[in-house]
Formats: sequence, C-alpha cells, structure tokens
Amino acid sequence: MATTLAPPQLDKNVTDFLSKPRKMLLGGKWVEAASGKTFETYNPATGEVLARVAAGDREDIDRAVKAARRAFEEGPWPEMLPAERSRLLYKLADLIDQHREEFAELETLDNGKPVFFSRIVDVPTAIETFRYFSGWATKIEGNTVPISMPGAKYFAYTLREPVGVVGQIIPWNFPLIMASWKLAPALAAGCTVVLKPAEQTPLTALRLGELVMEAGFPDGVVNIIPGFGETAGAALAAHPDVDKIAFTGSTEVGKLIVDAARGNLKKVSLELGGKSPNIVFPDADLDAAIPGSAAAIFFNQGQCCTAGSRLFVHKSIFDKVVDGVAQATKTFHIGPGIDPTTNLGPLVSKEQQDRVCGYLESGAREGAKAVVGGHKIAGGGYFVEPTVLVDVKPQMKVVREEIFGPVVTAIPFSTPEEVATFANDSIYGLAAAVWTRDISKAHRTAAKLRAGTVWINCYNVFDSALPFGGYKQSGWGRESGHAVLELYTEVKSVCAQI
Ligand code: NAI
Ligand code: MG
Repeated sequence: MATTLAPPQLDKNVTDFLSKPRKMLLGGKWVEAASGKTFETYNPATGEVLARVAAGDREDIDRAVKAARRAFEEGPWPEMLPAERSRLLYKLADLIDQHREEFAELETLDNGKPVFFSRIVDVPTAIETFRYFSGWATKIEGNTVPISMPGAKYFAYTLREPVGVVGQIIPWNFPLIMASWKLAPALAAGCTVVLKPAEQTPLTALRLGELVMEAGFPDGVVNIIPGFGETAGAALAAHPDVDKIAFTGSTEVGKLIVDAARGNLKKVSLELGGKSPNIVFPDADLDAAIPGSAAAIFFNQGQCCTAGSRLFVHKSIFDKVVDGVAQATKTFHIGPGIDPTTNLGPLVSKEQQDRVCGYLESGAREGAKAVVGGHKIAGGGYFVEPTVLVDVKPQMKVVREEIFGPVVTAIPFSTPEEVATFANDSIYGLAAAVWTRDISKAHRTAAKLRAGTVWINCYNVFDSALPFGGYKQSGWGRESGHAVLELYTEVKSVCAQI
C-alpha cells in the first residue's frame, strides 16, 4: 500500500456532522429510535468508529409509514402543483451542489471509496439525478383513448397517478447515488417515501434528509430510517400500508423482499446482483480496451453491481490483454480514500473483505491462478489486492458467483458465437460490454447478450435518461429515464359516456 500523506483537513461541516449521534427523519422531525438503540458506522480505511446512528426497527418503520401515509393523503403535498414539486427537486439539487465537498468527504469516510471519485462521480451524479427528475415532475402524462364499444359515444382518457407510499431499501456501494435514484423519481411522481439506507453507510442519506427539509418538502413526504436489514428493512418490505417497495442489493435479499411483499401484494422493483461479461475482440483498440477493462472491474474496488467481473478475451490477444490489465493494477494508488491521490480504496466492511477473501481462497483451491493480487492487504483497513485470475473453469464459484470485490476472472474464447454463449451462461443479466472496431460485430453481439445494458467500447456509462436494470435474476423493472416513472405511478382509465 502506498504510504499516505498527512490526513487532509476535513470540511468543517463534516466534523460537526460526525461529532453528534445522528437521528432519523420521521414526519419532518429528527428523532431517536423508539427503542433508544443506536449502532456504529465505521471508517473502512482504518476500522475505527466514525459515527453513532439511531437504529430504526419495526416500530420506527411503522411510525414512518404512518407519517408518509398522512403526507400522501393530507396537507400540502397532494395539493401541490407539478411545477411546485419540480421546483422543490431543483432546489434540493442546488443545495447538494452548495455542499459538494461535504458530501464527497462524508461519502468517502463512510464507504471507503476514493474521494477523487466521490467528487467527480458520486456527488455530481446525485445532483444531476435530482435536476433530471425535477424536469419530469411537469411531464407525467396520460393519453386519450378511442373507444369502439357500439351503441353510444364515449370519451376515455388515462391518468398517471402516484403509486402511494413507497418503501425504498438501498445498498452501501453508492450510498448517495442510490438514495437519489430512489428518491428523485418517486418525488417527481408525487409519492411519499420511507427510505432505509444500508447499515454500513447511512451518513450521506441522513445529511441529504437535512437538505430535503431545508428545501421545503412538507413533513412526512421523505422519511429516512437507518437500521439493519433483518429488522428495519424486513419491516418495511412487509408493511401492509406500503404500496410499493423498491430495492437495490443482493439477489438473495431481493427474493426475501418478494416474499415479504406478498402479504399486501405491494408493487416490487428490484435491482440486484450481476456477473457482467466484458468481451474483448481481436480487432479492438487495445489502448482503450485494456484500461477500460481494468476500470470495468476495479472502479469502486469492484463493488459495483455492473462490475466487469468476467473478462472474455480472444485467444489471439489473451496474454497481451491479461498482462495489460495486470500491469494497470501496479499503477494504482491504494490507500485511504480521503487521500486525494488514492484511486483504489478499502472495501466497505470487514464482512465484505472476508467474503471477497473467501472467494480468493475458493478460486485457489479449485485451481485458478492469480496473475496479480490474490490476497488481502494487512493492516487496520479492509483492503484487498486488485486481482486477475486465469486458468478458470466455467463451473468454478469465482466464475459463477458475484464476488463484489476487485477480482476479475479472465477467460479466452475463439468465435463471436462461442463468446455469446459463454457470456450468457449466468443466472445474472445486468450489464455487458463489447470492445471491437467492427460496428456490425458490436451490434450483432449486443443483440445476443441477455443483459439490461450493453456498452460498446466503453464501460459504466450511466445517464439519468438511460434506463438501467436487469434481465434474469438481476432484477425487475428499470430505473432512470422515463422508464422508472412506471415504477412510481399507477395508470387510471377514465371512461365517460357523452
Ligand atoms: P444486502 O442485500 O444484504 O443489503 C442491501 C440492503 O438490503 C441493505 O440496506 C440491507 O440493510 C437490506 N437488507 C438486508 N437484509 C434484508 C431483509 N431481510 N429485508 C429487507 N432488507 C434487507 O447486501 P449485503 O449483505 O450488504 O452484501 C452481500 C452481497 O450482496 C455483496 O457481496 C454483493 O454481492 C451483493 N450486493 C449487491 C449490490 C448491488 O448493487 N446489486 C449492493 C450491495 C450488495
Ligand atoms: Mg446482507
């Protein structure tokens, strides 16, 4: 690990924020958990306690759902003009913009990710998400429908109405972006929300909650209840008065959400795991494909649902590409995320470090060979070496299961047909990428891949306007773009005899 500079001065608002126990946002007030319990959140770079946070549970979720229901049915929110909702969302974006550095540092301290990326990816994406959906608040429309029923004349139209009280459960890999992806479209559509951030990374969502209130959203429209999955999360997913649950996280928990939603048949959308194929054809521009493939897996320490964790390389260039990706890892500055020169930080938690190391051991046991990396990095933080595995077989756990760490398996292929079959041999179907100079081959391959997003000569390009979500066990529904508005609205048909 590179020796680090003296810790930079933190933004004063960050030190203030961390100095007090953080409460939950419930019905417009900041309150402690009904049980009085709290939990600790850690700095993954050191393993030290960062802050104390109220531990929400069933009773808090129940109160928050009641507050959200009240705000949905009474008071200013249901009466608010779309243009007023739009202005509130835009104001919230401006407020985050005014606190950019504070959010970047808080995100890095809580999650571990390099502040370099928090500044250029996480915070700007959150701001842009609120701006984009601010625009949608005034553009959610129904249509008029011609009726063929004989005997009378009818006038029929559809309305798109907010689905109601929404529960949202988010993960720890992009805490602020995930909060924004969930809140912005739900609020644009006129829903009210109970948001549960991940127990590993509740801080930026709680800071965001303060700005939600500062922007002027009515009490109870946004409730933020930190807490654990098995308690607060499960209570939210099962709550009989929640109309819709939106979840991002593991496929395993996604299935529990489906079970929990059964009681009142609440609407469910899921953004789950992946094992995304990244395919390099022999005619690719390797000056782009090699660093692109390294970034595809190592960005965010590999803790991306879209991580390009299965690297398929044509056999004629296999050694060259694998060596290039391995060499790229030698240029990384590995260290605490708060050091501005760091570009690979620690994993989010001890648990995640152990999980990833378990996969490294399993790979070694089954005969995979690490060209580079293969171990954790000793010390107080939760660091794991960036790792490239070769000599892997299709049935190995490291090839089949989501590792969610800086570990890529490299696999040679011969023909475009063969690699499409390899790529689709997964329970997941979230993302995929193709590197080639042949545009026909690029689009033919994109058509064959069973994945919600296919990147061509790029990776991890996201846009508020571009739908994102999974085929197969990677999820249900699409976020971003106008597609996400379907998740947060109901269609009402109105038919009048005239
Ligand atoms: P997780 O799926 O357990 O956690 C995600 C969210 O779900 C958190 O807010 C958590 O509190 C909540 N949750 C957990 N159990 C719940 C339950 N029974 N009912 C309702 N909510 C519940 O993910 P975890 O344990 O942090 O990570 C395990 C693996 O999941 C990772 O190694 C990775 O493979 C995958 N994962 C995938 C993510 C993605 O973006 N697709 C994000 C995070 C994890
Ligand atoms: Mg879990």
